[in-house]
Amino acid sequence: MNEPAIAVTNLVKRFGDVTAVDGISFDVAPGTIFGLLGRNGAGKTTTLETCIGLTAPTSGSVRVLGLDPTRRGDFAQLKRRIGVQLQATSLPEKAKAAEILDLYAAYYGVRPRTAELAERVGLEDKLDRFVGKMSGGEQQRLALAIALLHDPDVVFLDEPTAGMDAFGRRILWAEVERLKAAGKTLVLTTHYIEEAERLCDEICIVQAGRIVARDTAPALVAAHGGDAFIDFAARGFALDPSLDVLGRWTQKGERWQVFVHGEPGRALGAIVAHANALDVAIDDLDLHRPGLEDAFIAITGEALDDEAASAKAAA
Ligand SMILES: Nc1ncnc2c1ncn2[C@@H]1O[C@H](COP(=O)(O)OP(=O)(O)OP(=O)(O)O)[C@@H](O)[C@H]1O
Ligand SMILES: [Mg+2]
Repeated sequence: MNEPAIAVTNLVKRFGDVTAVDGISFDVAPGTIFGLLGRNGAGKTTTLETCIGLTAPTSGSVRVLGLDPTRRGDFAQLKRRIGVQLQATSLPEKAKAAEILDLYAAYYGVRPRTAELAERVGLEDKLDRFVGKMSGGEQQRLALAIALLHDPDVVFLDEPTAGMDAFGRRILWAEVERLKAAGKTLVLTTHYIEEAERLCDEICIVQAGRIVARDTAPALVAAHGGDAFIDFAARGFALDPSLDVLGRWTQKGERWQVFVHGEPGRALGAIVAHANALDVAIDDLDLHRPGLEDAFIAITGEALDDEAASAKAAA
């Protein structure tokens, strides 16, 4: 078996009496995209920072490419082989984007690929701009370019698209897919369900410093997402016990919610046919297939963000 690109074993990190990471273990196969998904304060950044040698573990161990980031000699080798985009970037405001890219190239001792990288992150016409005058999303894309400058084998991205608009997000996603195609290993933290679902080969759900689930997105949804349901409004509708394809249902006035096991197509057909037979009109029909958000709520007992939580509460 291939040696994992990253191996985290029984990692604990305490800050005074705060336990940020409470016994986390995982490994990441080379060439895969691994996601840490969790709410604010779950311990994602702390975990990632121990992998890159920015935070020393209280106990437990971390190996990246077989190297121990807490050892000075290993760290010196490691920093040339990993690329990092931190959650909070603090680039010098009085420097221009191009100067920063050139500076980092000199630091890593690599050929500056300023124009090529700027184009890849959509900053080709911002190279002369002072960092302090760049928008938050632009600064994040510059940080991504820096992370990729020395063609690292393992890339760590901490909430890479937080605060980015759709354009920035598309750029980042395309870049992640390109890195994967090039055989790189990626670790990303996110609290965007869509991002985790779309990009990650494997997802660890992190809650209060622990991993509470780990699998592919489809497997998490299949195991924890619950049943699909059909939601519709129809005045004068009544369920017929002979509709055995339908599962459990609830009714509130004209609104019906029917939960279905397996493929919802048959249940949909049966509902429509039954409504036609009763000669009632169906309004607002909506088929809800379970997704990663449903699995996340079932596993952690809380929604990923409060917006989703209040939407669920209102439903
Ligand atoms: N340097 C520190 N000193 C004290 N507490 C800290 C420190 N860094 C992190 N913490 C605490 O550890 C916990 C985990 O923080 P961490 O930044 O790892 O969470 P996160 O999952 O990255 O959250 P977010 O989604 O908000 O980025 C939080 O309760 C945080 O307040
Ligand atoms: Mg964080």
